Amino acid sequence: MEEPTASSVVPPPPGAARRVVLGVTGGIAAYKAVELCRRLVDAGLHVVPVLTEDATRFVGEVTFSALASEPVRRSLWHEPDPIPHTRLGQTADLVVVAPATARFLGTYAAGISDGLLTATVLATRAPVVVCPAMHTEMWEHPAVQDNLAVLRRRGVHVVEPAEGRLAGGDRGAGRLAEPAVIAEVVLGLLQRHPTPQDLTGRRVVVSAGGTREPIDPVRFITNRSSGKQGYALAEAAAARGASVVLVTTVQRPVPPGVHEVVAVDTAAAMEAAVLGQAATADVVVMAAAVADFRPVQVAPRKLSKSDGPPQLVLEPTVDILAELGRRRRRGQVLVGFAAETHQVETRAAAKLRSKGVDLMVVNDVSAPAAGFEHDTNAVVVLGADGSRREVPLTSKRQVADAVLDSVVDRLPAGAAGGPARDQQPRSRS
Ligand code: PMT
Repeated sequence: MEEPTASSVVPPPPGAARRVVLGVTGGIAAYKAVELCRRLVDAGLHVVPVLTEDATRFVGEVTFSALASEPVRRSLWHEPDPIPHTRLGQTADLVVVAPATARFLGTYAAGISDGLLTATVLATRAPVVVCPAMHTEMWEHPAVQDNLAVLRRRGVHVVEPAEGRLAGGDRGAGRLAEPAVIAEVVLGLLQRHPTPQDLTGRRVVVSAGGTREPIDPVRFITNRSSGKQGYALAEAAAARGASVVLVTTVQRPVPPGVHEVVAVDTAAAMEAAVLGQAATADVVVMAAAVADFRPVQVAPRKLSKSDGPPQLVLEPTVDILAELGRRRRRGQVLVGFAAETHQVETRAAAKLRSKGVDLMVVNDVSAPAAGFEHDTNAVVVLGADGSRREVPLTSKRQVADAVLDSVVDRLPAGAAGGPARDQQPRSRS
């Protein structure tokens, strides 16, 4: 297969944070994968390192974890995520394996999933690049060459090894290609397989996390939201070209390409931030878990145990999403999330109508591996037009992209929408 030349390679634009899984198998050349990792990160890519057990005998896990965008993954069994193999493969824009041992090539060619890395390459539809490195005798063995021929036939890109000094001090073919060469191939392929830039020129506001409603200076009422779903939405929108403002109650690494982060804590602070930002937004996605009630009074000093249990009097907060529905700009797309434990779709459909939004994404937060805190989610996207789209259990990033697909379908063609229907802020009742 023809590989791109150095002159044809331009790094992806900033904001388009492409996800690359960097697989490292057990060969002496594994040390060169450290430089490859650094080059890919420097090029603005989001690099997820996956090391085989043998690779960890040659290079330190900590080195990769420090350089890459995420900590090293090693095993199907050390993950909180129940489906890391499909998640890594499905969310990758590209998988590169460097060095690729004869054993890895054989297992991959045979379709055997015997670990996280082979499972990932078998579960992906993204381009896969393998960079073999081994002794000349092994490299030239018909079994290895047959396996490579099979992989090439299936569309796998092969970066041929170079000739040079090998591990035993002898010389010959089988030396891992230089990291600069591999990085060029990766960047070139990403250019040929671009993420759809269907949110370019759009301003997207995403809320994330659970609000905190203070009782006294040290106590508050909150919920289990980790912000993961909101952050995944912000990351996906940025990768699709949007200018993203993330209004968040949690501190997590800022997703690549996100334009602005507004830190808030209470429902009132989130209300002010979201309504302010929404005035010029094309899309608002409320993934945050906003408190419905807050204490009427916040004690100025820490409540003392000796005074007995406090009698908390609560008042409703402003329903930010419903307020957005009332103030909606022409052409603006509004998305809510409904966290339900029973009568899931019925209750979500009622919220869709009462809050006046275009899409209500419902998650059954009592289902295994879905909803709060998990890396995965399962949702149904309900449309005000009566549409219904089911997204079975997958990564929160995949859920985010499915939601954004529905958003893109509803955006008017061309630039951002016109003036607001009602510019006047409504007072808190
Ligand atoms: O953060 P994670 O751990 O990743 O978990 C993700 C999630 C479960 C929090 C997320 O997927 C989700 O469901 N978010 C919405 C949670 C929620 O508040 O649901 P709700 O059914 O109570 O509210 C419906 C909608 O109204 C939500 O979009 C909410 O942001 C909005 N709302 C609610 C109350 C309020 N005062 N103002 C609001 O805008």
